[in-house]
Amino acid sequence: MMGDIVYFDTTIVYILLYHESTRNFQTYNVLHQIFINKQIGTQHMKAVLEQTRKYVRGKFEGEGSGHDWWHIQRVVNLALVLAEKEHADQYIVELAALLHDIADYKFHGGDTEIGPKTARAWLESLSVQAPIVDHVCDIVAHVSYKGAGVPTPMKTVEGMVVQDADRLDAMGAIGIGRTFAYGGSKGTVMHNPDVAPQLHSTADAYLNKGNSSVINHFHEKLLLLKDRMNTETAKKMAEERHQFMEQYLEQFHHEWKGLR
Ligand code: NI
Repeated sequence: MMGDIVYFDTTIVYILLYHESTRNFQTYNVLHQIFINKQIGTQHMKAVLEQTRKYVRGKFEGEGSGHDWWHIQRVVNLALVLAEKEHADQYIVELAALLHDIADYKFHGGDTEIGPKTARAWLESLSVQAPIVDHVCDIVAHVSYKGAGVPTPMKTVEGMVVQDADRLDAMGAIGIGRTFAYGGSKGTVMHNPDVAPQLHSTADAYLNKGNSSVINHFHEKLLLLKDRMNTETAKKMAEERHQFMEQYLEQFHHEWKGLR
């Protein structure tokens, strides 16, 4: 992708020089304007990403429930790796990954509108073009997990990539750490063998599940994520993270019973 841009720039500079040397100023002026617009566009995209990074970092720094700035940073990095392999638009993916948890419905009384609304206000304040704003906000609106039986389909490859990255970060060693951190922040018990896990068929039921246990959360969400990946690249990565969680739970239950 970067190679394409460099190639495009070099070619257009040569064409500009040619038309300048032949004094074909009409063509020169038209091409020159295209070149300038493209340069301004690239600069604007860079500035939007940089300001969004600062804005999100400011909002999330010091968050202790497993949804901190470093979660956002990991999702951005992972999403960009997936975007490259899945040929998704890097700009849309990075913006959506940065903004995906900007106002999570779980922390706003189940209001699913607040995330996309906050993202829209922010992007419009930076004069991002309307189709990009719509695309990013649509991803932000549909990215979250809402229960075992609640489908959360993504319309575009960019959305699929961001959702996969967010879900991969809930799996494996990082996922285990985040789940316990989140449980701690909510005062949820680590494990209670008397309470069985539940598979929630509606978003409301999932949201209002109350204090189950951290271990139950593995069965209600984390162990189900492997089969809900959108892209082939993420499916492969999910396998390894899934196996690690299975291993962890096996050890946990053995220790619980005093068998290991
Ligand atoms: Ni997230």
